[in-house]
Amino acid sequence: MNKNICFIDGLEGILKYRDVDINELIDLPYDAVSYLLIKGELPEEKELAEYSARLHAERGINREVMDVIRMCNLNIDSMEALLTVVSFISQFDPDLYDNSLEGNMRKAIRLIAVVPTIVAAYYRTANGKEPVPPDPSLAHGANFLYMIKGSKPDPLEAEVMEKDFILSAEHELNASTFSSRVTASTMSDLYSAVVSGLCTLKGPLHGGARSEVMTMIETIGSPENAEKFVLEKIEKREKIMGFGHRVYKTYDPRGTIFKQLSRRLAEAKGDMHWYETAEAIENAVIRELVEKRGKPIYPNIDFYSGVIYKYMEIPPQLATSIFAIGRISGWIAHCFDQYEKKKIIRPRIFMLDEC
Ligand code: CMC
Repeated sequence: MNKNICFIDGLEGILKYRDVDINELIDLPYDAVSYLLIKGELPEEKELAEYSARLHAERGINREVMDVIRMCNLNIDSMEALLTVVSFISQFDPDLYDNSLEGNMRKAIRLIAVVPTIVAAYYRTANGKEPVPPDPSLAHGANFLYMIKGSKPDPLEAEVMEKDFILSAEHELNASTFSSRVTASTMSDLYSAVVSGLCTLKGPLHGGARSEVMTMIETIGSPENAEKFVLEKIEKREKIMGFGHRVYKTYDPRGTIFKQLSRRLAEAKGDMHWYETAEAIENAVIRELVEKRGKPIYPNIDFYSGVIYKYMEIPPQLATSIFAIGRISGWIAHCFDQYEKKKIIRPRIFMLDEC
């Protein structure tokens, strides 16, 4: 097993999962990347087939879970329902308190498999539609779009969704992964660690930035309004959502891939409007913050992913949950690593001055 879950070079813009560059991982199925993160090695063909079969078999939710979804507030962000439902289902997992590697692996597979179904069922319920049961013949991304839209997705959209989950899967000790690790360090169960991750991911400085990017692009409306908007934000010393990163001081490699994907979608749909609006925002930020003021503020993972959702007609209400669907494999990989250490994370208050 390769022990390096993640490697980031924030100056060169390099990202690797288990020592494999993100640009090599991007064309694999999400299931293979999930396997790599959790088990530490890329799967052989037979291992991948078995892992995928186990994941696809665990996608379903029962009537009780649907009842809980219906009782959630259907008018707010899907993250609120997601963390409620994950907490609820934990109580019925027969392996909840089994902290052996096998018990944790069974829970991991259930969690990775069922989270997309919860998000899709919530979304359809919130929109007055019947939930669509998962299709075990479809890959992770295609199945999610199918459950959202109720029809087999366009191949390019399915590919983009699969790649979105891969790009979102892991990012070292980001805030939500740190939360998950702290929970796991107390030897609490995997569901609790995932709920901790969800609660942290939803903040607007972290995964919540994605939905704010969508709202921002909508507000700006067209390329010619971008510069004025950016200048006003800088003048008021406000953050521009989808830009900047604690670790990357150059282009975020995930942002670069998302930009290419959003261009492909725009071209395939014959509608460059949202892509060109986003590019005008990016150009204005680079000009004003990087070139004029020397600040290393580049588009991060959340910027062009927001553009992709606009083309795929995915509403802002789902954006952070989609991030969570991808990131869950990374959280689990870190929890497994933390369980092995059997050591509680307990920093002293002065260490926060470094954060
Ligand atoms: N727009 C304008 N100025 C910015 C931005 C931005 N998005 N990000 C940083 N800056 C400026 C900031 O004003 C500060 O300037 P000064 O030194 O003059 O006070 C300087 O850059 C350093 O900013 P910081 O907030 O101290 O940097 P940080 O490393 O603590 O924060 C960040 C990183 C991602 C929280 C921040 O860049 C930010 O709030 N970005 C917008 C929200 C966002 O897109 N979040 C998603 C992050 S990536 C994916 C994820 O983690 O989920």
